[in-house]
Amino acid sequence: MKPIYMAGPWITEHEIKTVEDCMRNGWYDYKYVEKFQKEFAAYHDRKYAVMTPNCTTSIHLLLTAMGIKEGDEVIVPENTWIATVAPVTYLKATPVFCDIDPVNWCLDPASVEKSITPRTKAIIVVDVFGNMPLMDELLAISKKHGIPLVEDSAEALGSTYKGIRAGKFGVGSVFSFHRTKTVATGEGGMLLLDDDKLYERCMFLRDHGRKPGGRAYYNYEVTYKYMPFNLQAAMGYAQFQRIDELIGKKRWIFEEYKKRLAGIPDIELNAEPEGVFNSVWITGLLPGKSYNMDKLQFMEKLEKLGMPTRPFFYPLTSLPAFEGMEKIYKPRNPVAYDICSRGINLPGALILTEDQIEFICDCVTKVLKP
Ligand SMILES: Cc1ncc(COP(=O)(O)O)c(C=O)c1O
Repeated sequence: MKPIYMAGPWITEHEIKTVEDCMRNGWYDYKYVEKFQKEFAAYHDRKYAVMTPNCTTSIHLLLTAMGIKEGDEVIVPENTWIATVAPVTYLKATPVFCDIDPVNWCLDPASVEKSITPRTKAIIVVDVFGNMPLMDELLAISKKHGIPLVEDSAEALGSTYKGIRAGKFGVGSVFSFHRTKTVATGEGGMLLLDDDKLYERCMFLRDHGRKPGGRAYYNYEVTYKYMPFNLQAAMGYAQFQRIDELIGKKRWIFEEYKKRLAGIPDIELNAEPEGVFNSVWITGLLPGKSYNMDKLQFMEKLEKLGMPTRPFFYPLTSLPAFEGMEKIYKPRNPVAYDICSRGINLPGALILTEDQIEFICDCVTKVLKP
């Protein structure tokens, strides 16, 4: 059997030909960047799309444009990749870590409500693994307190909540096209916006504080250089033209896992409550407490059988990167600390085959139902 990969793209002749066209013809314009941005915005029913070198820079750009600064607090979930939070600290603002919902593993509205202070200036919600958070409740809190919501939809391209696509929630949303994501450009990101002023500010901040179309070499402020690259966009544009096929494959992988693991008691996979379409960037497998086994023990057993795995994210405040935070946040965020200690991710590369899925499910079954 060929090696099993945790995550990775599905590249066809279409992408190769499109990138080749860009190599030959794409050096005197931003044609692919413009086409990709336009179609990506339209797909998400957003007015604007701003491509960036990766998703982390999209978040940094947006938070800067929103005026987040030292002394401000920004609410974030415990259960996410560090990239959600790193830009908050770049701006010297304070991340305030909230607990997660036990069903969808995303930000818990009750925990958000409890964490709001006069210094809270933004709430960043993350659509973890393609799962959708309780958006109605989170949007209601954002509205009630007048605190803007930002959606980190890096992992949720194609998911929907009550018929609305991930990427349409809040003042701005961000996507990643890292090589592990559903649409991959190697490195790449996209910021989606509806507000004209915020868009203008982001365009200005993205390119060394110049006014788009303004005087050459004339900078009004010292800002960032977060410009996209036409080759990267050509790749993204070509992949995006295959979006239904790519999401279809992700769904197929998930359905195969669901079917083959259905006989194992006391486990949970990605939530699909009524009203949610989950595009399942990656499958999460959460063994219940009855197994009395943490994720590292579970992974070790699977790896001994030759199966690759990854752990759920660690609660961010348990990591050395946020030293000293655990004693404050562990008692505040018990659900995240519990779920993150038990869950693993199953391989989700877009080139997975049926034989590989069968092998993976046999390994999981051997460990959980010996
Ligand atoms: C939830 C989440 N946010 C942000 C990012 C950052 O994406 P990038 O690696 O493109 O900067 C990722 C991707 O790894 C992610 O999973």
